[in-house]
Amino acid sequence: MKKDYILPDLNKARNRRNEINRETFNIEDKYLDLGKNKTYFIETHGCQANQRDSETIAGLLDNMGFLNANDENKANIYIINTCAVREGAEDKVFGKLGSLKRLKKERKDLIIGICGCMAQEEKTIERILEKYHQVDLIFGTHNITSLPKLLYDIYSQKTKKAIEVYSKEGDIIEEVPVTRFMSHKAWVNIMYGCDKFCTYCIVPYTRGKERSRLIEDIVKEVNELKESGYQEVCLLGQNVNSYGKDLKLGYGFDTLLKEVAKTGINRIRFMTSHPRDFNEDMIDAIRDNPNICPYIHLPVQSGSNDILKKMNRKYTIEEYKDLFDRLKAKLPNFAYTTDIIVGFPNESDEDFKATLDIVDYCKYDNCFTFIYSKRSGTPAANMEDDIERKVKEERLQELNKKVTYYANLNNQKYKDQIVEVLVDGPSKKNSSVYSGYTLDNKLVNFTGDNIKTGDLVKVLIKEVMSFSLNGVKVDS
Ligand code: 5AD
Ligand code: SF4
Repeated sequence: MKKDYILPDLNKARNRRNEINRETFNIEDKYLDLGKNKTYFIETHGCQANQRDSETIAGLLDNMGFLNANDENKANIYIINTCAVREGAEDKVFGKLGSLKRLKKERKDLIIGICGCMAQEEKTIERILEKYHQVDLIFGTHNITSLPKLLYDIYSQKTKKAIEVYSKEGDIIEEVPVTRFMSHKAWVNIMYGCDKFCTYCIVPYTRGKERSRLIEDIVKEVNELKESGYQEVCLLGQNVNSYGKDLKLGYGFDTLLKEVAKTGINRIRFMTSHPRDFNEDMIDAIRDNPNICPYIHLPVQSGSNDILKKMNRKYTIEEYKDLFDRLKAKLPNFAYTTDIIVGFPNESDEDFKATLDIVDYCKYDNCFTFIYSKRSGTPAANMEDDIERKVKEERLQELNKKVTYYANLNNQKYKDQIVEVLVDGPSKKNSSVYSGYTLDNKLVNFTGDNIKTGDLVKVLIKEVMSFSLNGVKVDS
């Protein structure tokens, strides 16, 4: 039965040989009524790229007449958009599949779908096909636009399970429907994939080759968002600073930033920067355009040159520090955050000490810290590792203490200050408390009257915590 399916192959996914294909999306008429009287629920794990992909999946389903289910237990289709970056993220998905199995026993017509980065891993798909028979639908990160066809095949009983996972460089498909989950801030893909091949990371295999959208398509999307009332866009890519290189049209991320800034949208963010490709023109473009938010996420991963080399990060810690100094010199009042992995194979005490040192040097506003997780198919998975789990956990704790110290220290300057907050909505725990983010990406919880999602409000900060600020709305 397996051979009827198009299954993933991580080895093939490593290839960077073929030209990428650019096309415009079209949906066949026969798929348009498929969703009548049916509902869907999408559960999203992982990064912003996945959030944005889920909005595309919702857009396709809405186009086919499906409705978003208010109750996840009542949906006719349950799709899990998965993350493969660490084992913990994968475990959560397998746990969820267990509970969906019980639901499927009660409701035979339920279609359970898996997509996202886990769908690109052959070991995961083998395991699902062997043990998780409740899964009906599997589609890869390159196969999202096949969703109408795959559902059609299931509903017309052409197949019992529909599986399509390409392991290829990837396409750029424009004009795919999208249903955005927020009405005040939007994710905007500027590029897909990654060519960096950091040795620990599965992403270059699951998301294909680095490929940029054309500048005019991105600017058009931002203009449309602005016209429909959006206050903020976040430009997304695994590696935004290498935007445009593949196009060979003579423009790069600096040009894109300037063009997006010209749209006049209130707030522009971007994620994620790779230190290697961050150049002076980009720093200038950020400095010269006031609607680009004063916040930079600059993953360092480790402070040790030895480990950076083994990670294939393509910079030394001296080069990272030099870039950080240049950023600080031109963009002094920005918030800076980073990602750090502890416990990379055979990370020594000295290597770890060097990581603590870079945190002392950069005094980050926040760090996202992770224990290294072995990803099958990546080069680091074959590296010897004699470091005990307990040591890795202790290192993470020690690092997190330092991270919290600097986060708290950086936040002190906001005490009794008035900041601008873009309101995300009432907090989940207490509906009289609202939350939102400052220009420099600080989470603010606050109280006040006449507050709506999407408002830009002024908040007086009364209390400073390590990872959030508390305040009250004041009249502007
Ligand atoms: N183990 C732990 N952390 C990882 N990351 C990526 N791959 C792994 C892995 N195998 C982290 C990196 C990256 C962030 C998104 O996730 O720090 O910047
Ligand atoms: Fe993974 Fe490195 Fe690419 Fe980031 S730059 S997605 S860590 S391979």
